[in-house]
Amino acid sequence: MGTIKKAVQFARTGNPPDVVEVVDMETAPVGPGDVLIDVEAASINPSHLLTLSGGYGVQPELPAVPGAEGIGKIVEVGSDVTNVKPGDRVMIPPYTGTWRQQAVVPADRITVTFPSDGDPTQMAMIMANPPTAWLLLKTVVDLKPGDWVIQNAANSAVGQYTMQLAKIYGLKTVNVVRRDGLEDIIAGAGGDVCAVDGPDLGERIKAATGDAEIKLGIDAVAGESTQQMADCLADNAVIANYGLLSGQPCHLSPNDIIFRNLSLRGVWLTKWLQGRDSTPESRATVYEELRGYIIEGRMRAEVEATYPLADIKEAVAHALRPRKGKVIILPNG
Ligand SMILES: NC(=O)c1ccc[n+]([C@@H]2O[C@H](COP(=O)([O-])OP(=O)(O)OC[C@H]3O[C@@H](n4cnc5c(N)ncnc54)[C@H](OP(=O)(O)O)[C@@H]3O)[C@@H](O)[C@H]2O)c1
Repeated sequence: MGTIKKAVQFARTGNPPDVVEVVDMETAPVGPGDVLIDVEAASINPSHLLTLSGGYGVQPELPAVPGAEGIGKIVEVGSDVTNVKPGDRVMIPPYTGTWRQQAVVPADRITVTFPSDGDPTQMAMIMANPPTAWLLLKTVVDLKPGDWVIQNAANSAVGQYTMQLAKIYGLKTVNVVRRDGLEDIIAGAGGDVCAVDGPDLGERIKAATGDAEIKLGIDAVAGESTQQMADCLADNAVIANYGLLSGQPCHLSPNDIIFRNLSLRGVWLTKWLQGRDSTPESRATVYEELRGYIIEGRMRAEVEATYPLADIKEAVAHALRPRKGKVIILPNG
């Protein structure tokens, strides 16, 4: 019998704090090609909450361990493993189910290592949101230094990474939020313009940017927010929708589609991770670039709170509230 460790599990979908529970779970045997990882830190992202409520694009078979990203230290390696060793701090491969104390994964899925010093909460967030920001800025529209982009939910982690990466690439950002009091986060991440969403957004952004030609809209909210973003865009611009935070369909006027040639497309990290428009080598190059920025502190997302695994219901309820940063689980304290 393997070691018994604590893990979060959900056996049904529903209101996220109601469906998560901490259980004892036997650690899987470490095969010749596997590694055993002590999970140091794991994020709670909107996609994890959507999975708990049953609304995400891919749903696991239940019961399942939630969480799709995290960082951990290798404590044991199988006899055939040569790419990593005990003591290495690594990105846990995507969709492992990270809200647990220990995980066993195939060593050949470990592609990102980190130094043993540095803030584990920042490193724990590398898997999903930094490459999403990269995909949004690098794969939708051909942008040149000096070009403008606009995004909503700009105080989100993806929003912060997008501002930081845009700065690195010499782009200018208009950053739309849904409430007052977030100017410090936008300024801290290097955003150029901050505005609260609303029906008159187009006029306000024209004034704030000197009628800049904005070629890319980055939409995590959908609903009316998509149209309000369209009102800020130049003719022929593209809106990349990557989130459904409002729970509403994207609104976009035919006038914009027909007469101004605006287009709307989706961006989904999961497809990129599965090989759509990417190879293992191209993904490794992107993660290597982002890893460097995270180690240097040039890419970071605010963290509002950390919780032990035992307090998972409080942690999940906290993540559902308006906040000024991420909620991170520290499964081993
Ligand atoms: N397509 C992809 O591949 C992909 C990859 C990663 C993330 N995402 C999506 O990106 C979005 C941001 O993720 P994250 O991890 O960066 O988020 P996060 O840091 O947890 O922040 C959540 C953000 O959502 C905003 N928000 C929540 N409910 C909203 C609503 N009804 N209307 C408008 N804004 C709302 C929050 O605003 P307040 O602060 O005002 O509450 C906050 O800015 C999520 O939709 C996530 O699913 C998509």
